Amino acid sequence: MAENRSQQNKISQRARANLETPVPLRVNLIRALPNLYHPLHNPTGAINMGLAHNDLMQNDLMEKDLEYGDPHGSRMLRGLVAELMNRHFHPVVPLHFRNITVVPGAGAAVWQLIQSLADPGDVALVIGPYYGNFDLDVCVSTGVTLAPIYPHASMEAGVDETLLESDWTKHKTNAKVLLVTNPRNPHGCCYSIQDMIRILMFASKHSLHVIFDEVYGLSTFDSASPFEPFTSVLHLPDIEQYIDPQLVHVVYGMSKDFCMNGLRLASVTLSSMFGYMSTVNDRLAYWFVTTNQQRLSKAYQQTSSYLQQLGLDFLPSGVGPFIVVDIRRLFEEKMTFALENAIGEAALVNGVFVAQGYVFHVLEPGFFRLTYSLEWDSVKKGIDIFDQTIKSFL
Ligand SMILES: Cc1ncc(COP(=O)(O)O)c(C=O)c1O
Repeated sequence: MAENRSQQNKISQRARANLETPVPLRVNLIRALPNLYHPLHNPTGAINMGLAHNDLMQNDLMEKDLEYGDPHGSRMLRGLVAELMNRHFHPVVPLHFRNITVVPGAGAAVWQLIQSLADPGDVALVIGPYYGNFDLDVCVSTGVTLAPIYPHASMEAGVDETLLESDWTKHKTNAKVLLVTNPRNPHGCCYSIQDMIRILMFASKHSLHVIFDEVYGLSTFDSASPFEPFTSVLHLPDIEQYIDPQLVHVVYGMSKDFCMNGLRLASVTLSSMFGYMSTVNDRLAYWFVTTNQQRLSKAYQQTSSYLQQLGLDFLPSGVGPFIVVDIRRLFEEKMTFALENAIGEAALVNGVFVAQGYVFHVLEPGFFRLTYSLEWDSVKKGIDIFDQTIKSFL
């Protein structure tokens, strides 16, 4: 104990503050990681439906796609990113390599933007529920605190300006940045253009920089979904009517749409900047994106029908690679965060890792995010275990 204390005294206050930042998303992940399922090495381990990863294209990644690129982002690399973004995100003003900056991962992109846009003591607002690791990406070494705001009830999709403004009054002191994820995580849906305009006007009114994290931009698959299709903020016409474009920054990366969480490649576009890899080529840009969307769509149909068959409610979505299961109806007023946590922990012990809603700062208990972009046998087995676990608490 004394030794521990003297060890702790040797690290910086900053490092200690970072270690003390509670990040439930990480806590659960660290608990689950040592015993994850592998068909050969750990056949009795837990199926990983808690992490946003996509296995559907694993066999189609080729070694040559994973070679070294220029770590600083060569003109060619940045040009390829600009080209890719122009092709898929349809920016109103076509991007040039000069608009692009390469960074090692979307999380790092958010961190670098926060470093550049806010000072210690400032506040970054984030629209909640939100990706739990932002607690670290925004706060580590920056001295900036993260404050969630909820411009919609529970897990609903819309943006209500009155709710935005009432949350603003709570956090306005020193707020410098607004962080928005579109397509949304954990919801798996996109903001409408009207909602994006509301967000931009809110930011403009309060002189906030807005970071749009668009890492799931090309994982949308269901044009028939009741939700809005994805529109990049870069595609909004006449954006200067709503906000000074210099206040708008876009983060994008390889982790989600290109199924390469481990590659650590992303980008920022100035009034957006973006980061990428030198081996992005037409194979990745066209075939990969469309094939991934088709496979996500099929996996979603299979997963959602199976959930329906088991009588589990879920939030319909049109963006991969996850789906939110809503168990509130089963437990009604007995549903609490303690019960949600107990179910998540029991599921892990029983053989499936799922992400509880509270790790995304969902305000109400009873939601779980399940990743379905895996082999169907694993998804089915994972859902079965999850379903049995839930029922054991009824
Ligand atoms: C919304 C969002 N942004 C950023 C990240 C991190 O991406 P990267 O692996 O590129 O750092 C994630 C990962 O799940 C995410 O969901």
